[in-house]
Amino acid sequence: MTQARTKKLLSSDARKAALELAKKSAGRSRLSANGRKEQYKPAAAFSDLPEYQEIRKIRAAADMFGVSNPFFRPHEVRAGATTRINGETLSNFASYDYLGLNGDPRVAEAAREAVDQFGTSASASRVVAGERPVHRKLEKALADHYGVEDAVVLVSGHATNVGTIGHLLGEKDLLIHDAYIHNSVVEGAKLSGARRRSFQHNDLENLQSLLREHRNSYRNVLVVVEGLYSMDGDTIDLASLIEIKDHYGAWLMVDEAHALGVTGETGLGSREKCGIDPSRVDIWMGTLSKTLSASGGYIAGNSALIELLKTQAPGFVYSVGLSPPLAAAACRALELLHDETWRVKKLRDNGQFFLNTCKELGLDTGYSEGYAVTPVLVGDSLKAAKLADNLLRQGINVMPIVYPAVPMQSARLRFFVTAEHEHDQLKNAAELTREELQIIQNTNMFDAVEKS
Ligand SMILES: Cc1ncc(COP(=O)(O)O)c(C=O)c1O
Repeated sequence: MTQARTKKLLSSDARKAALELAKKSAGRSRLSANGRKEQYKPAAAFSDLPEYQEIRKIRAAADMFGVSNPFFRPHEVRAGATTRINGETLSNFASYDYLGLNGDPRVAEAAREAVDQFGTSASASRVVAGERPVHRKLEKALADHYGVEDAVVLVSGHATNVGTIGHLLGEKDLLIHDAYIHNSVVEGAKLSGARRRSFQHNDLENLQSLLREHRNSYRNVLVVVEGLYSMDGDTIDLASLIEIKDHYGAWLMVDEAHALGVTGETGLGSREKCGIDPSRVDIWMGTLSKTLSASGGYIAGNSALIELLKTQAPGFVYSVGLSPPLAAAACRALELLHDETWRVKKLRDNGQFFLNTCKELGLDTGYSEGYAVTPVLVGDSLKAAKLADNLLRQGINVMPIVYPAVPMQSARLRFFVTAEHEHDQLKNAAELTREELQIIQNTNMFDAVEKS
């Protein structure tokens, strides 16, 4: 090849390469194949997104009816049976510290010791360099709690459901869940690409008919339920669920987020309440953020399941290890749950007392069985928000739960009852709720606005 030809080739290659690079790197405008400039639509402003417009509409409606924003209110102290917001001390029913262990000196001391020894962060994924002895200590304690081979802890309860379901299931699989299941399960199904179906709340006939119809069309089927439903406060018939999943060859996952420390004679959760052999549940899931007064999530089950998650699930492998003080706090809280069963008894007594008081006052408590979660159904979302607002002015902090967290027309106030509440506090909250609810139910919100 002559020198002149080589030079010509090089320069034409260089031109092509430059053109390619320009195509790749040009943002809003780039050169098209024929060398003309192409124009692209500008990126949308976030404030123009329909989802954002929806938020503005809801806020405007709330403002019109004089309802202040119930969300993101900063608490100025530890939120226990009482709390302080804006300098006001309030009875608090919005926190799920069920056994009152958040801030317990022994739990706080465990966290402090872990900070002194390891600092506040694991500073890496556990697979790489984030493993600390307290991680395995907590996992072993959780595995023992469920009487299964092993457990794994992750940095968030929500991410535990998303990551576990997202990794275990694939496009050839089916996930069947209770209609009232937590959002994290639905998000996990989306990530996995599996087909998803729901059965009517706690309707095992409906579950069976779905399994009968669909089981054999899929590689694996996972059934997911909650041990204590977080919005409704009712429990499951775990013995029957185990029979059903065995019969149809499905896996069963039980989310114990709200059941741990709450159901069962000594707070061991659904396994104790239903008197079943815990190894017959394929996947136990729970969070560290409620009874265990930390944050994070866990999966407990056989060692193959745990090894699978610890070596392959992206949400574990590519995420930082649980913060050491949180692991230590959860570990200590789990010991206290086992040692101080009086807390579970007091919670049970408070839960039943509150439910019975509400019922006597004629409040609609839906499916609640009087454990730690009791809703008071209102119906209309705006009225539920207004009721919570009025109760706040009367010294009661309780959250309204509105669509999409619950079905449309099922808006409610959700009361979290804990072992720290006293009967007079519970009675007072129920009575004020009845009074304020009556006023709101008899008010036409539109008339009220026009008159004001
Ligand atoms: C049933 C259920 N599962 C999972 C989660 C997620 O847990 P976390 O808030 O600890 O991330 C929650 C949250 O409240 C829940 O209620």
